[in-house]
Amino acid sequence: MTDATHHAADAIRSGGRVVVLTGAGISAESGIPTFRGKDGYWTVGSREYHPQEMATSAMFSQHPEQVWPWYLYRRGICSAADPNHGHQTLVALEDALADRFLLITQNVDGLHIRAGNSRERTYEIHGNLHRMRCATGCTTEQYPVPDDVHTPERNGALPDEDGARLRCPRCDEWARPHVLWFDECYDEAWYRFESSLNAAVEADVLIVVGTSGATNLPMKVGGIAAQRGAVIIDINPQDNPFSRMADQAPRGAAIQGTAGQALPPLVRTLVEAANA
Ligand code: OAD
Repeated sequence: MTDATHHAADAIRSGGRVVVLTGAGISAESGIPTFRGKDGYWTVGSREYHPQEMATSAMFSQHPEQVWPWYLYRRGICSAADPNHGHQTLVALEDALADRFLLITQNVDGLHIRAGNSRERTYEIHGNLHRMRCATGCTTEQYPVPDDVHTPERNGALPDEDGARLRCPRCDEWARPHVLWFDECYDEAWYRFESSLNAAVEADVLIVVGTSGATNLPMKVGGIAAQRGAVIIDINPQDNPFSRMADQAPRGAAIQGTAGQALPPLVRTLVEAANA
């Protein structure tokens, strides 16, 4: 057990709050490819598009019928996957800590909620690809992506009948996937921007799992927690900005391992501390 684990347990025994920040690495053991992996591109006709081009508001406004199949294909992969031991471990941690626990996830696969973490304490800061909303913003409602929409083959096209289903139920314009696109900014209403920053301010322990640290809000959360002297623990098989942050934190540690290996023993100690 690392010294940082002892520090985190001490913080919990003193009534401290825990924020867990997850990225694609925690879902890798459920068989979901990480975002920047080799299968990330999408072919339309003879052209290959990369996520940074496909996952944009600009692309959607011009070619909704080409962007949707990309998301529906990914949604098919996520629907077929099951939460893994790492996800389940975080449910045990929330059960033990209740309102002293908060989960901030970059993952749009919905696996934390399916594992059993509560919606109130799970901030899906990049959205959720099982949900959609009006592309024109006529309402703030979110809707489930309809069950009868087909899951396309990789690089497949959107059938006309699905184009008719992926509509805003209120105004009948296109609905869009409820995800943050590369040419958009975080906000509170959809992506819990301020709430995430507030959680970082209040965190006594920050546990980061499986993220490469490529996006802005997670880095801000880490920076605030570090500045306020929180215990910082990073779990990742690879070196990344959070592992360096954890190494530099006076009471931190970078644990080099997978979520499935490293999270259960850490959480067991923290749950014991919460129940002590
Ligand atoms: P990345 O694909 O960038 O990084 C995945 C991280 O998980 C890497 O650091 C891996 O080393 C690590 N990893 C792989 N297997 C692991 C395992 N079994 N256990 C623990 N860690 C493991 O994914 P994210 O950091 O989540 O945003 O990417 C963040 C965001 O980048 C995505 O949400 C997406 C993209 O821009 C938006 O779409 C807005």
